[in-house]
Amino acid sequence: MLTARETFRRHEILLAGANGFLGKVILGMLLDRFPELRRVHILMRGKRRATPQERFEKEVLRSPPLAPLVEKLGLEHIREKVNLVTGDVGQPDCGVPSQTLDDLTGNLGLVLNCAGLVEFFPPVDESFLSNVDGVENAAGLARRIGAKLAHVSTCFVCGESDGFIEESEPIVGFYPRRKGRHDRGFHHDREIRYMRERIREAYASSHTNGSRKRSRELSQKLSDLGSQRAAQWGWTNTYTYTKSLGEQLLAAQDDLDFTIVRPAIVEAALEFPFPGWVEGGRTAAPLVIMAINGLRHWAVREDAPMEVVPVDQVATAILIVATLLLNGRAEKVYHVSTADANPIYFGELVKVLYKECRRRAQNANGLARLPFGGPQGVRVLTPEEVMERGRRQQKNLTRLQHFAAALRRMAQRTGLPGEQTFRGLAASFRSASLKAAVRDQALELYRPFMYDNRFIFEAENMRSARASLTEEDRRLLPWSPETIDWEDYWVNKELAGVERWIQNEGKG
Ligand SMILES: NC(=O)c1ccc[n+]([C@@H]2O[C@H](COP(=O)([O-])OP(=O)(O)OC[C@H]3O[C@@H](n4cnc5c(N)ncnc54)[C@H](OP(=O)(O)O)[C@@H]3O)[C@@H](O)[C@H]2O)c1
Repeated sequence: MLTARETFRRHEILLAGANGFLGKVILGMLLDRFPELRRVHILMRGKRRATPQERFEKEVLRSPPLAPLVEKLGLEHIREKVNLVTGDVGQPDCGVPSQTLDDLTGNLGLVLNCAGLVEFFPPVDESFLSNVDGVENAAGLARRIGAKLAHVSTCFVCGESDGFIEESEPIVGFYPRRKGRHDRGFHHDREIRYMRERIREAYASSHTNGSRKRSRELSQKLSDLGSQRAAQWGWTNTYTYTKSLGEQLLAAQDDLDFTIVRPAIVEAALEFPFPGWVEGGRTAAPLVIMAINGLRHWAVREDAPMEVVPVDQVATAILIVATLLLNGRAEKVYHVSTADANPIYFGELVKVLYKECRRRAQNANGLARLPFGGPQGVRVLTPEEVMERGRRQQKNLTRLQHFAAALRRMAQRTGLPGEQTFRGLAASFRSASLKAAVRDQALELYRPFMYDNRFIFEAENMRSARASLTEEDRRLLPWSPETIDWEDYWVNKELAGVERWIQNEGKG
């Protein structure tokens, strides 16, 4: 087998999703660690009036993880190694012009499909476009130009689950509520046809009046359609349902050399491009923000692991798998996860986060006081208890808001001082009430991952992959989930990263 260096020197790669959170780290790692890299083609579409070229400059080259690298390596070197290809995975052949397809044919070893819509409950047609059609088209493109395909999926295609999830679980025909391996109740082709028909009906019955813009009502209808159908089969949301359909489409193809890489929850970088780099804020970030704000009452299963993987570990794993695939030695599925080697359990995690939050509060004001909490520490409750607390809190905040508003009106009427103070108080109670509502919604959204289910993803194939590498490759691509110090990671990488790159995004 060739080394990673030699592999990337020989084979060109087409990367879809390079402007995404994960895609940028993969691209950066390729450029940084493999100077002999032959070429990477970046597939990008135009969006909101920005051309693919403009987006490439802004969202890739000038992005925080890549800008220092562009500076270090020089723009000329980057232009020599990175080529922009206009396209959209939602279109046949990924929308790549036929002349470009001809140019790529025979030169390209691998299509790396990192494109996807990472939203839990979007209108289902949007999810289909990126996560189902996108896989079909990436496979079509790879076949057309004679390349192999590495497709990035998610561990959570398993849906509702409790326990150890094996990498060898058959892909085609899978649905989370399947009654054993002989259950033939689900077929992806049938399901895709069914859903496309429902989407067509939803559009036909909506009153768009010829406008291409969807009404809010239609968006809601399409979002409900996806979430209801996903729940019916046992998937936790539209995202995992459509990602599974995409996988099944791919696994049913027997004329394409492919592998599926399934990361767990991708979060802040350990080291590369720099510690704490994180983007997007759709997965664990809302929980982290609630923790920073002093949340004390959590509805979690204390013995369930939080299946998070730092983004640079995911990029490392993907490049290891790409090396194996290009050398004809890859397995069909790789879980990129941490809990089977080095778990952190929710019970421990919420304590770590709360401890850090208290430490900061003490440093800031010398008091061990937090908003909505005393010094007693964190408490683990059932979701029902947390919801009940939320309801009571809302009721009290509403009362306080009305009281402050009444005092303001009285001060206004009588000319007594304090009108401004009462106005300010009413506004802060209103804002606290809104924050509490957002918190309760987020806790409900994460309930399947923190309370209802317990996931441990087998990662044996990654361990074997690492074992098959040369010493030099292991140094360049150090897949090492067992060495992560989780307390340090959650406090100094994830929490610090979410604050810097998500909470204070755009504030310099
Ligand atoms: N984030 C996680 O926790 C996580 C966990 C497990 C697996 N994954 C998987 O990892 C992959 C990357 O995720 P991410 O976190 O990097 O997401 P991200 O930041 O939202 O990036 C998604 C990328 O996909 C591209 N994309 C989506 N639809 C496209 C289309 N029709 N044509 C061309 N490009 C399209 C986006 O480009 P535009 O900007 O043009 O939309 C963007 O570059 C996804 O497949 C996701 O399912 C993510």
